This record gives sequence, C-alpha cells and structure tokens, in this order.
Amino acid sequence: MPRKGPFPPDIRGRLDFRIGGKNMIHDAFGENYIHGFGPAEERRLREQAAVLAPVVFKDLPLPARGRLLELGCGVGAELDLLAQLCPGLDLTGIDLSPSHLGAAQRHLGDRVALVRGDAGRLPFGDGTFDRVLTVWLLEHVRHPEAVLREALRVLKPAGRLICTEVDNASFRFSPELPAIRRWWDLFCRQQQAAGGDPYIGRRLPGLAGELGCGDIHWRDLPVVSSRLNPHRRAELLAYTEDLLASGAPRLLATGGADPALLAAVRADFAQAREDKAIEFEYHAVQLSCGRH
Ligand SMILES: C[S@@+](CC[C@H](N)C(=O)[O-])C[C@H]1O[C@@H](n2cnc3c(N)ncnc32)[C@H](O)[C@@H]1O
Repeated sequence: MPRKGPFPPDIRGRLDFRIGGKNMIHDAFGENYIHGFGPAEERRLREQAAVLAPVVFKDLPLPARGRLLELGCGVGAELDLLAQLCPGLDLTGIDLSPSHLGAAQRHLGDRVALVRGDAGRLPFGDGTFDRVLTVWLLEHVRHPEAVLREALRVLKPAGRLICTEVDNASFRFSPELPAIRRWWDLFCRQQQAAGGDPYIGRRLPGLAGELGCGDIHWRDLPVVSSRLNPHRRAELLAYTEDLLASGAPRLLATGGADPALLAAVRADFAQAREDKAIEFEYHAVQLSCGRH
C-alpha cells in the first residue's frame, strides 16, 4: 500500500487495482487508447519521460514541499522523475488504467500514492493539492475542460495547475518523408475518432481563460533535431519512431493503415538515421495557471 496520500478512508480502498473479473472502466477505455497497454508501452513511457525530461521539467515552477497530483500518471514515469527532482514533495498519481497503475506500483513502491480513477471525476476534496500536473494526458480525453475544472477544484487557493500537452500540428520532417507524414495523419485522425484532440496544446490558454483561471502563462516546448548534437538527434529520432510505432496495432486494425505503409514508415526512419541533413521538429505547449 502507498505510504502516504491525502485520502479519506473510502478512497484508500480504491488503491487495490488488481480487481478480479471484468473491469468495465479499463475495457471501455482500453479499446480506444492509441498507444495500447502492456510491457512495450510501459517501456516506451519510461523512455519518453527520460528523453523529454530536459524539455518538460526545464524551469518548472515546483515548490520544495507540499502536495502534488499527477492526472493520468500512467506507469509513474513522470512521478519517478519528480520524486528525484523534488524529494520533499508528497506525490499522488491517478490513472484509469489498472495495468499502468500496476506497473507504477511495482516501480515506485511506496514512494508515491496511487489511485485508480477518472481525471474528470477526482476522488479528492476541494483545495487539497499545491500543484496539479498533466503530462501527455489531455489529448486522450473526450472532455478536457471537465478535467481542467476538476484539477482547479482540487487545487489549493494559491496552487498552480501545470499542463504539458501535445500540439501534433507542429510535427514535421524537412524535407517531408511521405510515409511518415501519411502515418502521422492517420495517427491524429485515429485519436480524434476515439474522442481525443491531438491539437489540444494550442487550445490550452483559451480553455484556461474560459474556466476563469488567473495568472495564465504558456510556453512553447520545442523538440527539435540539431545537426550540432548528433547524439541528441539520434535519441529524439528513436523516440519519435517509437511513438509512431506505438499506434501500429490500432492503425492497422481500424485506422486505415496497412503493413506496406508501416514498412515504408520504417524505411523513412532508416533514411532519416542515415541522412543527417534531414531535420525534424515537434512542439508541445506548457500551460501554468492559478485558480482565479
Ligand atoms: C500517454 S500516457 C501519459 C502517462 C504519463 N503522464 C507520462 O507522461 O508518462 C496517458 C495516460 O493517461 C491515462 N488516461 C487517459 N484518460 C484518462 C482519464 N480520463 N483519467 C485518468 N487517466 C487517463 C492513460 O491510461 C495513460 O496512462
């Protein structure tokens, strides 16, 4: 059982996510989740967190002490980094997926409190947390405004909400690699068909304004290849290939892709590895705001 956490006794019961029998929340959600579940996705999420940490955590306004909640914490990859960055923080994660939470629990042990639940209906009282974070969550949810509203509700009056989210419209290779472009378009369309928004990043400042947030800041987080840093270029390229490949089962099953396209995508990545003049970029958006 997790060591700590601001939960009433009834909520603690939910920490046991190894529930027997059919799990309706997970089944309904899992079918649509583009990255899938299981060991491959667990590994991908940890590698993603490590590769993107210099971008995501750069100058993040985190206090040395207090309570932090991550919505959609997945396998706990970001919480793991946060525990190292800010050992004085009391960390809690919530996620819909029992298998992701199981991986988080195995990896983090009692360093973090873990709860299974919907980020749009948080089982925490008003004004509980000093920081609420989302990292690569809102692109997957049908009603991001409901998640943000809940995040603001559980924030303390002086707390801050920090969302790091994708803007998939910014993804490009230069010169364009046709199979990768086609795959990416199908990838984004599949997310939209599942009720998500792959372009959520650019909507965040507007959503925060509509919800009455105060002290709204946002910044562009560039993930850009550099000819001056071949090691970082190779790392980002491998990460990008992994990201696109994570959608393969769903894109091949229902998303309009076929094995020939997947093979062409692999060939495009091989070409990009070989030809260092090929550049690529991708931008995320990081929103930071207060309750009022
Ligand atoms: C791409 S992963 C990101 C995980 C983690 N934030 C990270 O950066 O490693 C998205 C996570 O959001 C979770 N998720 C999606 N919709 C959710 C919801 N409505 N409530 C809670 N978790 C959700 C998924 O189960 C998945 O673990």
